[in-house]
Amino acid sequence: MSKPSPINPLRLGLIGFGCVGQGLYDILQKLPEPGFVVQRIAVKNPSKLRPLPAERFEFHADDLVNDPELDLLVEVIDDPNEAFRLVSQALQLGRKVATANKAMVARHLPELLDLQREFGGALLYEASVCGSIPVIRTLDSYFGQEPLHSVSGIFNGSSNYVLTGMTTAGVDYATVLAEAQAQGFAETDPSLDMAAFDPRSKAVILAAHAYGVLLNPDEVLNLGIESISSADIRFAAERGQKIKVVASLLRLPAGGATVFVTPQFVDADSPLYHVEREFNGVVVDAAFAGQHFWRGRGAGGHPTGSAVLSDLVALRNGFRYAYPKLTETTAATSVAPDLELEVYVRHAPKELRQALQLTDIGDALSAPGFSYDYVVGYTRLSTLLQHRDALRAAGVFVARTGKVRSVTAEPKPELITAELVAE
Ligand SMILES: NC(=O)c1ccc[n+]([C@@H]2O[C@H](COP(=O)([O-])OP(=O)(O)OC[C@H]3O[C@@H](n4cnc5c(N)ncnc54)[C@H](OP(=O)(O)O)[C@@H]3O)[C@@H](O)[C@H]2O)c1
Repeated sequence: MSKPSPINPLRLGLIGFGCVGQGLYDILQKLPEPGFVVQRIAVKNPSKLRPLPAERFEFHADDLVNDPELDLLVEVIDDPNEAFRLVSQALQLGRKVATANKAMVARHLPELLDLQREFGGALLYEASVCGSIPVIRTLDSYFGQEPLHSVSGIFNGSSNYVLTGMTTAGVDYATVLAEAQAQGFAETDPSLDMAAFDPRSKAVILAAHAYGVLLNPDEVLNLGIESISSADIRFAAERGQKIKVVASLLRLPAGGATVFVTPQFVDADSPLYHVEREFNGVVVDAAFAGQHFWRGRGAGGHPTGSAVLSDLVALRNGFRYAYPKLTETTAATSVAPDLELEVYVRHAPKELRQALQLTDIGDALSAPGFSYDYVVGYTRLSTLLQHRDALRAAGVFVARTGKVRSVTAEPKPELITAELVAE
């Protein structure tokens, strides 16, 4: 694809004109220099009021996918199934596509890779993980050859906004969640954010680039903050810590990686301790480069639109992800070998507490008549995954302390790194 001149810009087909679509459109109006023009826009609802004249919109996204006059496609709709249908069709035509849809990419990455290999198209999705933080291309290109001990971070701005409100202003969960929704930081149905489904999708995507593993999202542990109370925030504060929803990707000694997303007690010396409100943060711990930290806006029209624009420039320049760590062996990794995590469990009914088979209990409070009871001990990652839905349904709050160990009697030194234990 040749470089456009200002009088011959590349023509975009924009599918979706909500928060992200409008953010990208606005950036392109303010920044003509990159040389893109939005030629056609497809949306869903014909009766919706729009900020542009009605003749700018059409209602059959397939027409854009099939239009050979369009140089690049941008898919930013809010329906993962329809997004997958449209993006797969575009890739079957060998087209170049940028998307922001993390749920779609996380669930269908193996098929999307096959389609690119078979038909020669390209799909970039920087906007799908942590908005404007340039993490995917950095992991794929810059850290493509370097082993990474861990990649961890706060990947969901809505739950972080709620945690910040509870921690700094002492506001209760329901009040601060309603405030986050009013400000547009949280979905009307908050479970995607608050139950950590959204950051799980992002962690699955990063695992492909950081470790070459293609994980099924359903097999990745996600625990959220729907049951958090001010007592949990106080418990952390008394120990000089904050609770954050942390996604952790950890390298395993035999190759591959394990991934989980849960609330975690974070110490003041962690860069994530200082990531507040709707911001996201990513910490990469590389074998030779050491620790790197980014903090930035994980959502919103302009930050996410900025990431899409960066993908458009990259597509124009012929860039495609290399997935440098993806091999037949790593791709076959599904659920990682088991680990034990130290967890704080509050308000668990007796059966669930027994089901978690906690060991090495370090701290506990349980007194008849008290509504606040907790226990701290080790449980297996697979046990948490097995009981995830029951824990959620019973309103149990679970947070990691940050300590992780191998289930085998002989600890594997490569896995149990100082960084891991201190995280
Ligand atoms: N919002 C963020 O900050 C953010 C950040 C990172 C990633 N993302 C991802 O970006 C994507 C878009 O999010 P958003 O917040 O911009 O969503 P949004 O504000 O709800 O807008 C969605 C847009 O998609 C259109 N649409 C839905 N189904 C369609 C179809 N079948 N054909 C054509 N258009 C269709 C809607 O049309 P109507 O206008 O007619 O309803 C609307 O314009 C999602 O995958 C989201 O996860 C969002």
